[in-house]
Amino acid sequence: MANQTLTERAEQLRQQLNEANYRYYVLADPTLTDRQFDELLQELQAIEAANPELITPDSPTQRVGSDLTPSFPTVAHLRPMLSLGNTYTPDELREFDRRVRDRLGDEPFSYVAELKIDGASLSMIYQNGVLLRGVTRGNGEQGDDITPNVRTIRTLPLRVQPVVAEGGTLDSFEARGEVYMADADFEAMNAERELAGEKTFANPRNSTAGTLKLLDPKIVAGRPLNVFVYYLYSNSIRLQSHSGNLEYLKRLGFPTNPHWRRCATIADVLEYCAEWERRRSELPYQIDGVVVKVDSLRQQEELGMISKSPRWAIAFKFEARTAQTRLNDITLQVGRLGRVTPVAELQPVLLAGSTISRATLHNEDFIKERDIRVGDTVLIEKGGDVIPKVNEVILAERPDGTEPYTFPERCPCPLKTKLHRPEGRADHFCEHAECPWQIRGRIEHFASRAAMDIEGLGEKVVDQFVELGWLANYADIYDLHQRRSQIAALERWGQKSADNLLEGIEQSKSQPYHRVLFAIGVRHVGATVARALASHFNTIDRLLAATQEELTAVNEIGPQIAESVVRYFGDEGNRALIERLRAAGVTLEGPAKKVIAAGDNPIAGKTFVLTGTLPTLTRDQAGAMILERGGKTSSSVSKKTDMVLAGAEAGSKLTKAQELGIRVISEAEFLAMLSE
Ligand code: IVH
Repeated sequence: MANQTLTERAEQLRQQLNEANYRYYVLADPTLTDRQFDELLQELQAIEAANPELITPDSPTQRVGSDLTPSFPTVAHLRPMLSLGNTYTPDELREFDRRVRDRLGDEPFSYVAELKIDGASLSMIYQNGVLLRGVTRGNGEQGDDITPNVRTIRTLPLRVQPVVAEGGTLDSFEARGEVYMADADFEAMNAERELAGEKTFANPRNSTAGTLKLLDPKIVAGRPLNVFVYYLYSNSIRLQSHSGNLEYLKRLGFPTNPHWRRCATIADVLEYCAEWERRRSELPYQIDGVVVKVDSLRQQEELGMISKSPRWAIAFKFEARTAQTRLNDITLQVGRLGRVTPVAELQPVLLAGSTISRATLHNEDFIKERDIRVGDTVLIEKGGDVIPKVNEVILAERPDGTEPYTFPERCPCPLKTKLHRPEGRADHFCEHAECPWQIRGRIEHFASRAAMDIEGLGEKVVDQFVELGWLANYADIYDLHQRRSQIAALERWGQKSADNLLEGIEQSKSQPYHRVLFAIGVRHVGATVARALASHFNTIDRLLAATQEELTAVNEIGPQIAESVVRYFGDEGNRALIERLRAAGVTLEGPAKKVIAAGDNPIAGKTFVLTGTLPTLTRDQAGAMILERGGKTSSSVSKKTDMVLAGAEAGSKLTKAQELGIRVISEAEFLAMLSE
């Protein structure tokens, strides 16, 4: 490479690294992964090592990243806060071990391995047992004095119990540690912020770093900050080992992470790393790796440091769980029962050991809130679940000419059904019973154990029959008997299995009515709601005729379910399927309920409005009694209202009834009517 180009490349790397440092430390909004950062830094280091004349005073190789902000007083650290070299593979860790052994000669030594907490580092100065100062890492030499904010960290002792150690008293010292937010606290905080319409944080680490830099300690006090302390230095006594220090810190009353382990060999260290990479998700907070330290403080001193990192410690970084990549397209996936989910089609990228090319975008609102556009560079994350998600857009990388995403109006299947987004919900649905993208799911659901429990009609058979064109909807199941010989002729079938299947189908016809209501797959109608519907509308014809108001009068049924039921049965195609079930002899009514014939009682044909608190009945119970007797309930008083059943604290409905001269009755009068 010509020198001119090397100079340019070095300058470009410096700019990229400085920008990345600023975004990481000051904005708490990183754009590069640690690994990408390290790669760029190493490239710059290599160029500078070969061409020392290219080193500039502002080169990121000359200092560790800085989080200094002008708003806080800057103070010098008593001893520099070093950064750690990173390793990503067992081989790199073995190399570190080799370097340590080379330097220590034949001396025996051991390591301490501990979790690398993903937060923000902090130095705390204690004098005569009292917390004097809390300082951020800053540029490693100087940091921001954020003492008032640090004092709000509840688990941090403001005064320690002095510990007698190594023949002296330990009460003036520097402790260092990592401030973090537990995942659950972080999520609760974010949920609250969302409710309040405030911007949410991308992850616990960003939110910790951001919080520590707030100018109002009262706000900081309301944030769930926590700390693990992992470092102790004192002039007054001679400390011996890092593991000993961790014990002292604990006795002093500091929160220390309990999972550290002494390791005699690098093999033990590797085992520890593997164990915690595996167990990472068990922890209630985020870690991004393991820190390996030579235990003896004397040996640490002997090993010393190189540039800004100690030779006696190293970080082993776990595989990143976030990555950046390009969003090539947004497609729609249609779920088993019609939920339509937008999916990010990504430029394939390696993330935590697997190549990711798709990630969920949840729903229309998720995309809108983040203004995610096709062509964007996005940050994807693999959380606890298997499905990766798109976290945010890197706006700085947005190319020209992108358009805000508009959610398609129609199902992507060949039927192109208009999608339905229920009020107050973020999800879209395709409710076509014969949507080719849902056929399998819907039929499988119909035949499943909890629904019609059709023996022999499992996923594989459904798949095969759909493929053959024999099944396109659940009603087709009851025509399968016409294909008896065709089924028997299929590979691995035969007469007997064909007959068994047809027998299973035949038997399913006598499944109780409520199971049928569950099986047909009306949105929001699960097994429990199906039972409630079956008991209140004990024939399919009553249910087909039920209005939204009649439905909501039933205890378990809210407006969302009612709307869904009315829409389902309002669809001609769905009604045709029900008729085919009826023709096949499927049970479409429940045990007869005591329905009092219209005309026989004062309630039949009358419209009631229920208001206020009744002394003994719930409004749902009273509503059900009215329905059973052929009456109707309505939620508002109008001229069409026949009677208002009013209880305690009845409000405007009662006033309106009185204005319109509508008869108002008490629960006692209502109950008396029942026995008329
Ligand atoms: S020891 C020279 N121990 O990781 C020793 N650091 O990349 C430096 N960190 O700045 C720190 N957990 O913010 C140490 N158990 C741990 C740690 C830890 C998290 C952070 C710390 C440090 C960074 C180094």
